[in-house]
Parts: sequence; structure tokens; C-alpha cells
Amino acid sequence: MMLAICSRMVVPYDHSNSSKKALEMAMTLAAQDEKIEVNVLMVIQPEIPAASLAMTPLLPRLELQHEGAQEIRKEIEQKLESLPNKTRTYVLDGDPAQVIEEFARVNDADFIVIGSRGLSGLKEMFLGSVSNHVLHKATCPVLVVK
Ligand SMILES: Nc1ncnc2c1ncn2[C@@H]1O[C@H](COP(=O)(O)OP(=O)(O)O)[C@@H](O)[C@H]1O
Ligand SMILES: [Mg+2]
Repeated sequence: MMLAICSRMVVPYDHSNSSKKALEMAMTLAAQDEKIEVNVLMVIQPEIPAASLAMTPLLPRLELQHEGAQEIRKEIEQKLESLPNKTRTYVLDGDPAQVIEEFARVNDADFIVIGSRGLSGLKEMFLGSVSNHVLHKATCPVLVVK
């Protein structure tokens, strides 16, 4: 059976619970059609200089870091092996919202599966800032997983 709405999927992943659910959902969808490519993308934000960090002491420093990313990547690659689909993982540097938007555009993604929240812990937010940005800027359908 062919899932005609989607052939190249991008799954932005920050290891938050939401992004774990998004990855599960993406894999469930991809299992419906082995022609769907699954691209899991982790973006590492450059370190915030100490000076500006001092000005924003309340900003949680819980976002994805380089040290952990390669281990998480291996975990995800093992998980993805359960699919017959073509799958790839990426770890890129930059501003997560910008990088995800650009990655999806440049790689002609036709479906994005993203978590509603991330690692910031701002639970009162309806949508995280990254998912909000991607939802606004993406030119393809976006599935937001709660
Ligand atoms: N650095 C990142 N790399 C890849 N995906 C990310 C990154 N940050 C967030 N995301 C994606 O965006 C979703 C929402 O996270 P985010 O908007 O950052 O929420 P919050 O503001 O709560 O941290 C995550 O579940 C994940 O799918
Ligand atoms: Mg975040």
C-alpha cells in the first residue's frame, strides 16, 4: 500500500518526550510504505557566551548538546533499523528553528513530524518555539505530536 501524501519525511529530534513520540509516530507512518524516506534531524545550538548567559539566568540550559548527541544518534539508528525504509540521521549545528526549516526546504521534504514541546520545560506554552517556527515557515504539511 502506498501513502501517497508523503515520500520524504523529516523528524526533528531533541530527545524530549514529545520528540520521542514524534519519532514513534513517524516510524508508524513510514511502516505503511517502505518508499518513504525517514530523515531524523538533531540540531545543536552553539554555546551561548557566558556574558549573555549572565543576563538571562533563567534560561534553562537543557537543550541538546554535542556530548550527548552522538550516543542519542546511535540509539535512534538502532531503532530505525526495524524499518525496511531508507533512513538517515543528521546532527547539524545552528539555530534549531532555522536549521530545521532550511533542511526541510533544501532536501525537498514533503512531510515534517515534530514534537509539540521540547526540552525547555516551559510547560505553560501551548507550542514550543521551535515547533511554532517550523509550523509557520514550512512549505509542506507538518504533523505536531503531543
Ligand atoms: N535542537 C533541536 N533539534 C531538533 N529538533 C528540535 C530541537 N529543538 C526542538 N526540536 C523539535 O521541536 C519540538 C518542540 O521543541 P521546542 O519548540 O524547542 O519546545 P520547547 O520550547 O518546549 O523547548 C521537539 O519535540 C522536537 O521535535
Ligand atoms: Mg526547545
